[in-house]
Amino acid sequence: MKQIKLNLERNVSSSYDICIGHNILDRIGLIIAKNNGAHRHIVIADSTVSALHGDSFLDILRKMNLTADLIEFPAGEASKNMDTILSVARQLIELGADRSSALIALGGGVTGDIVGFVASIYMRSIPYIQVPTTLVAQVDSSIGGKTGIDLPEGKNLLGTFYQPKGVFIDLQFLDTLPDYEFNNGLAEIVKYGIIDDVTLFDLLENQTEDIKKRDMTLMKRIVQQSCTIKRGIVEIDEKDVGIRRILNFGHTIGHAVEAESGYTISHGDAVSVGMIAAARICQKLDYLPSADRKRIETLIRALDLLDHIPESISTPGILSRIATDKKKKGHIVHFVLLKRIGVPFINGSVADRIIHETIEELRK
Ligand SMILES: NC(=O)c1ccc[n+]([C@@H]2O[C@H](COP(=O)([O-])OP(=O)(O)OC[C@H]3O[C@@H](n4cnc5c(N)ncnc54)[C@H](O)[C@@H]3O)[C@@H](O)[C@H]2O)c1
Repeated sequence: MKQIKLNLERNVSSSYDICIGHNILDRIGLIIAKNNGAHRHIVIADSTVSALHGDSFLDILRKMNLTADLIEFPAGEASKNMDTILSVARQLIELGADRSSALIALGGGVTGDIVGFVASIYMRSIPYIQVPTTLVAQVDSSIGGKTGIDLPEGKNLLGTFYQPKGVFIDLQFLDTLPDYEFNNGLAEIVKYGIIDDVTLFDLLENQTEDIKKRDMTLMKRIVQQSCTIKRGIVEIDEKDVGIRRILNFGHTIGHAVEAESGYTISHGDAVSVGMIAAARICQKLDYLPSADRKRIETLIRALDLLDHIPESISTPGILSRIATDKKKKGHIVHFVLLKRIGVPFINGSVADRIIHETIEELRK
């Protein structure tokens, strides 16, 4: 099992370990029992993860003589709302959870965001642990302490920064993860290679077929490298006011495409085509060499991620969503651009004409 320490210098007591391995649930149970000191643990999982892994995870905790219960909510982004928060909080009260209890988020990013949010406000905050079960959650959402829920007006509009006490990543959970969800995680991993680590990018290029087969040794290495990158960014910019924004590479156009499709395009596909759009913009602005732009496009295609914007999604629709985003964020769209693979920078101004031209080029 590999351990990566996330150090928050201004807040040392909030630092924690990210533990990564394959088939390590027993050891996770042992570490939780040894370190956590909570009188009881409440595992929170969505309906899908609860059915697949809930009982076996509870058994592991109980084998360690821990008092453990499980709360379940319906799977899906639609659950990431205030009703779920209130329902979970009331079930916690019913179970008698108090400030000596700890929550465990067993699931994907939706579960992690919900549990982190509840933990940050329940009885003025109680500890929580992340046990991520999707690739997105393993390489991204479980690390960094961003919690939140959606409002009808938009995603992640209510939330807190609240760090978990630990993140335990068992690659074994990927065995039951559908391809659609696996690909969502792959898109974020490609993003890490592009914005931070050319060696990761090389690895992804050279091992595409084994990645698609989910070779576990390789996936462990890739998840470790991804977690190390996310850890490094969070350590510098815990509250997302500076460098953490580079994690939005590909997301400006990607989010607009995803929303304009009515969420029929997956987040991973939307970000993938958004990264291709961003790379093309970088080349048009003479920042990125064309060889790097081509490598990005070739990798995205090789991993079977989306490389074009379907005709059904209108250009004016995408542009208007980017403009709305701009208004919300004070008239500046923070475009993350690249000088080369591994060297990103943030630019507040890309001319609408160039965005428009790039979207049109990405039609098939
Ligand atoms: N807090 C952050 O920093 C951060 C970062 C990125 C994304 N997010 C949030 O994360 C969410 C997306 O995360 P996600 O893609 O993990 O979504 P998710 O949690 O909805 O999981 C996707 C689906 O996979 C299922 N699933 C989970 N683990 C499984 C497994 N091992 N086997 C089979 N099925 C499994 C879930 O039940 C769900 O249906 C979004 O709400 C997004 O806003 C948060």
